Amino acid sequence: MQDITSALPDTPCFLNGEYTPLRDAKISVLDRGFIFGDGIYEVIPVYFGTPFCFDEHIARLERSLAELQIDNPHTRDEWRAIATRLAAPLGQAPQAVYFQVSRGVAPRDHAMVRGLRPTVFAMVNPLPPVADAVRAKGVTCVTADDFRWQKAHIKSTSLLGAVLARQISVEAGATETVMFRGDWLSEASSSNVWIVKDGTLIGPPRDNLVLTGIRYGLLERLCQESGIPFALRRVSRDEVFGADELLLSSATKEVLPVTTLDGRPIGNGHPGPIYKSLYAAYQQAKQRNAEKPGATA
Ligand code: PDD
Repeated sequence: MQDITSALPDTPCFLNGEYTPLRDAKISVLDRGFIFGDGIYEVIPVYFGTPFCFDEHIARLERSLAELQIDNPHTRDEWRAIATRLAAPLGQAPQAVYFQVSRGVAPRDHAMVRGLRPTVFAMVNPLPPVADAVRAKGVTCVTADDFRWQKAHIKSTSLLGAVLARQISVEAGATETVMFRGDWLSEASSSNVWIVKDGTLIGPPRDNLVLTGIRYGLLERLCQESGIPFALRRVSRDEVFGADELLLSSATKEVLPVTTLDGRPIGNGHPGPIYKSLYAAYQQAKQRNAEKPGATA
């Protein structure tokens, strides 16, 4: 068994109004986030010192909190101030701000306890870019049944389904686990999944069966800018394997080409032209956001 607590970074984090070194931050064992996974989170990329798609991420945080009937403990300006302060030491380097809100501390009882002070935690981690060699080749994924729950639209800290799903691809030496509910594509363990067919970017609908990534809206806008048709509809397993291109998207992966799925090549087995256009447009959007925050919105 290894104890890695002493190796935890001592970078600053935010816990319930205080900035402390990450290594020293402590919460109660009765925190409902710990006991029940009764909380929500966000992962927000920061480029050139400026949070990317910040308002969209905070809007989703607000939606997740509303689903859990937890009052939002901070205004948008306060959330932005926390992110900006935590991100400052790393300067221009790409990083990811993590926000988490749990219902708070109470004696263990499944019933929601009203009026608790939510536990608010935030930290920042470096966001190393995906290596050029990996982007040039594309990544390998495997498929699995989507055995998670029916409220995948909530960005909940109850992530056991995602952890078990991700482990399937870890053990296969693959980048992600692409999941299906019956015959229909849902998403991957921590990414959304897109197909390209005849030049159109197609993703599953925004509903309760997937987490609507912030890149849903962003890719739609980048498609518009680039003249790429965009559609949301159910996507079958055959369409996934028969796609011209297959893409992952997330805050940390941006947009990433999948060139092998369950050992079978997708399209011609190489990253395709729609991926290349969207990746280039994505990099421009990051630049624009740094020059004029919110310009991607
Ligand atoms: N995951 N679907 C799931 C299940 C996710 O966990 C994520 C993000 C996404 C993509 O959402 P977005 O484009 O807003 O990052 C889709 C984050 C990065 C995580 O849990 O670390």
